[in-house]
Amino acid sequence: MSQLPYKKINLDFQMYFAYKLNNYFHLELFQSDEKCRGDIYKDQLQVSKISNKCMKKENQMDYNFKIRYIREEDLSAVYEIEKRSFLEPNDFLTLVNYLKNSIFLVAENEDEEIIGFIVGQIRYIQISKYGHVMSIAVDSEFRRRGIGTALMKELTKKFNEKNIHQIKLEVRVSNIPALNLYKKLGFKKKKIIRGYYPNGEDCYVLWLI
Ligand SMILES: CC(C)(COP(=O)(O)OP(=O)(O)OC[C@H]1O[C@@H](n2cnc3c(N)ncnc32)[C@H](O)[C@@H]1OP(=O)(O)O)[C@@H](O)C(=O)NCCC(=O)NCCS
Repeated sequence: MSQLPYKKINLDFQMYFAYKLNNYFHLELFQSDEKCRGDIYKDQLQVSKISNKCMKKENQMDYNFKIRYIREEDLSAVYEIEKRSFLEPNDFLTLVNYLKNSIFLVAENEDEEIIGFIVGQIRYIQISKYGHVMSIAVDSEFRRRGIGTALMKELTKKFNEKNIHQIKLEVRVSNIPALNLYKKLGFKKKKIIRGYYPNGEDCYVLWLI
């Protein structure tokens, strides 16, 4: 008898098992050439890669959201996302200041929930100017649906409308999801700054030129 049916059932079982395991342990998922945060054993990593495919398929279903300028009443929802998303979040006052001096955009879903945000500022070096991405976050349950990409593209568009075509940002060296996002958008690593973050972690400085 052919081994094919058995192999197929076995594969379906592996994918199901991997999916459950991933939901249970919330394993971080990384591409094969990237460094893995935490001590995930090689066989678990294999399992998480299969499960990553399952998760991506689920999330790739159409999800409706729009990007718009922030309104003052959105600030508390943004602050909640900020606290949930970052190891060392900005305080509320910093966000209030961003409201006054930045390009501050939010992603809003069909239920009018704020599900992500991005903040950019215009900076000057002598006579030339560039855009600086100060912060970007998507609430965890809405990630991997293209919302981070849409926020970055909209901010880039806003910079371009102001005749700004060079964009800079800093990112933790351990932040693989964000690094992948920026790489996909064409950002290049220019330098590393040691101990940039309050907890001593290094950052990469990335530029889109
Ligand atoms: C970084 C972040 C904004 C990405 O938002 P997102 O909506 O999930 O991003 P997208 O769905 O547009 O993903 C775009 C690409 O980023 C990469 N990416 C996103 N999440 C990833 C993950 N968990 N693992 C590996 N790569 C990932 C992938 O290349 C992805 O493309 P793909 O789905 O076609 O493979 C989100 O993970 C986040 O809010 N993180 C916490 C806050 C943060 O770290 N901000 C960045 C500070 S510098």
